[in-house]
Formats: sequence, C-alpha cells, structure tokens
Amino acid sequence: MSISNILPNQPFERKGDKVNSDFYEEHLLAIYKARDTSVLSQNYRGIHHILVEVDPSAAKNYISELLIMTPYNYLRSFEDQTYRYHILRISNENPDFLIREQITPTPDIIWAMNQLSKNGRQKPYTRYIGEVYNVKDQKEVITKLTDWEIRFSQELPANPSKNHIHWTEESIYTWNFTGYIQEQTGEKTYDIVREWSFQQDELELFAKMKKLQVKLEINEFVDPIDHLATRVFMHDREHAILEFLTLSSYYFWGAYNIGDQNSSTNIARSIHPDITEKNSPAKVFTANNTPYYVSHINKMPSPTEAFVRNFGRRMHHIAYAVKDGFIGAEENEYKNVDFIVDQLKTCEKEFLADVIGSCGEGLKQIFSKSSMFSGIITEYIQRCDNYEGFFTIENVAALTAAAGQDDLVT
Ligand SMILES: [Fe+2]
Repeated sequence: MSISNILPNQPFERKGDKVNSDFYEEHLLAIYKARDTSVLSQNYRGIHHILVEVDPSAAKNYISELLIMTPYNYLRSFEDQTYRYHILRISNENPDFLIREQITPTPDIIWAMNQLSKNGRQKPYTRYIGEVYNVKDQKEVITKLTDWEIRFSQELPANPSKNHIHWTEESIYTWNFTGYIQEQTGEKTYDIVREWSFQQDELELFAKMKKLQVKLEINEFVDPIDHLATRVFMHDREHAILEFLTLSSYYFWGAYNIGDQNSSTNIARSIHPDITEKNSPAKVFTANNTPYYVSHINKMPSPTEAFVRNFGRRMHHIAYAVKDGFIGAEENEYKNVDFIVDQLKTCEKEFLADVIGSCGEGLKQIFSKSSMFSGIITEYIQRCDNYEGFFTIENVAALTAAAGQDDLVT
C-alpha cells in the first residue's frame, strides 16, 4: 500500500493507509535523524515499568483484578514521601507494573487533570501515569532533552540515586508522563524510603486470586503486555506520535484508517532488534479523523473523540498477548482467547462484546469492560500463525464501536 505524501528514504518499513500531513512526514524523518545524531536512539532502551495511580483504597482490589486477568504477580510494597507503591512483576525481562496511591490524599496535578472531564472527576486520583524507560546515561538524556525544550517535573539532583526516576511534565497531547531510569543489571530495584505491607488477610486474598487463575488455567495462555493504547483528540494525533518518538527509541510502524468508526489507529514499536513487545510493549495512539462538531454534518460516529471528551486524554486500554492455539477439536474453532474469556466470565469479569475476528483474518481480540479501579480496559489479542499486525481494520471498527457503547453507559 502506498500513500502519496510519504517521503522517500524511510528508515523503517511503513504499514497502513492513514494519510498524514506534510508537516508530519517531514518532521518524522527529521526527528529520527536528530535522535540518531545525538545518540539518543541508542541511549534510550526498553520500558522498565509502567505506573498507574489509583484512588485511595482501590489498590488492593486493582491488584486482585490484575492477578487473575494478567500474568503479573504481586511482589511487595513500599513508600516514599508522597506515595505508597505496589510492585507487580512477571520477570526482569518484562516491564514491572507499579500501582501507586497517595499516602495522604491531597489535590495535585493528577487531581487537577481529572477535574477537567466529567468521568475523570468521578475518580479524581485515578490515571495511567506513564512508562519509565531504561536509559544508558540518564544525565545525557535529561541534558539533551532539556536542550530540546522538553520539560521535566523536577531538577535533576546533583547526585541522583542509582534508581532515581526522572519524569517529564505531562504531555500536552496525551497527558501521559515519561520517566527515565538508569539501566539496571540484574533484578529491577526502586528507591524504597520505607517498607510497607498489606495485612495478612489481604496477602492471603492475593494468593487466592493467583491460585484461582491457575485453577482456571488462564495463566497458561496469557502472555505479557503487547501494547499500550492512548486516546487523544484528533488535532493532537500527529503531535502525540512525533513527541513520543522524540522521547523514546520507538519508530512509527504505521497507521490505519478505521473509516467506519471515523478514527485511526497509529502504532510505534521499539527500534532495537533485541527488544520485543514482551520487553517493551508497542505504543498505540488512536484519534478521530474529524472533530465531533462536524458529526451532525458528515453523519459519522465519533466514539474515540467521545471517550476523550468524557474521560480526558488518557490511556484507554492495555493489551495482553494470548498464546496462539486452540482447545478441543480444531474444527470447533475454539481458540485460546475464547477460553480465557469464558474462564474470566465464570468469575464475573465482563466484556464489551464477543471475541472479534477469526484466525482466517489473522487475529482474534476482545475488550474487557473498563476496570472499576483504574478505568483501563484490558484487551486480549491472539495472533494466529505469526500474524504480524496489531489488529485488522474490521476488528478495530467492531472494538471501537463496542467501547463507544460502553462509554455512553458510564
Ligand atoms: Fe489494542
């Protein structure tokens, strides 16, 4: 598929059919070049961990939910001056999943951002904060990015600790933050000011949830995070992607137009051949094609923009890969993803629609209902016979429509 305004000399193969602006195409190449020349492309590595903040007292339930729905295990908790953190881990090769909550709930920037949307206001501290990237030389990254007008949430300390995480300010396009940590060898570690522990009965609940996952055999089929999908406004789409490519060693894999749903799905992946999605998930950005205010004129649906208007710019879903394969007789077409969904339904997890797609089309995928504790949807995605894509256009149209219906109910 070729798109008229793609410039020649693309360093990475391009997929998709979404047409971008000339500004985008010119600056995409310029950003790759600046990143390479400054050696930032090599300095940035994969994702060390992702961070989600929840409202006070929601952490226990959110952890329980992740223990049954994902491959994560609960490891331990700790505090710093402001937050209590809970570490969930699969292995050192996969991003850790950190959940944080304020120790003494106090309105802050996260609270302020959430006030700006009617659904955000309902859970004022709940927000996907961002990813923390491993870097080879933290000081070099911060110095270079500061030169490039990237703003950070704090000054880089003169002698940062070896686990110091340096966060940008929130992106004005996505409202996500990006953190950097000096690449660690061996086990992932954090700056622990104080140890903190759940009560014994809460720890027993976690063990029970993981046992239930094993009993239901869900653990055998769910793989680590595959992609992280943020929803942005139509006018922010290109800027969100280009800004992210400035902040990471990801490249623009491509974008597909989802005409039926008046949106596009845009994907970025790590440039490093030794870093797969399991080590550092793909980043997905979705946005409307036309703004909501012309919906009454062009008669197009607007589920993606409706989400952003209802919830604010934010992470929409976290997708987990499902091992390829089927259960029972092949002709029954009962795939691993179907099994996972049926098993989760037995413990009252709800989904937005049925499993969408087929192996004939390349992959099957489904959205859960958004988490009551984080607001984030869980996607399960089974690629059949090494299908390379992240979706099919038909699947995304159906998923987007299902999620749009759910937003209306929320
Ligand atoms: Fe997705």
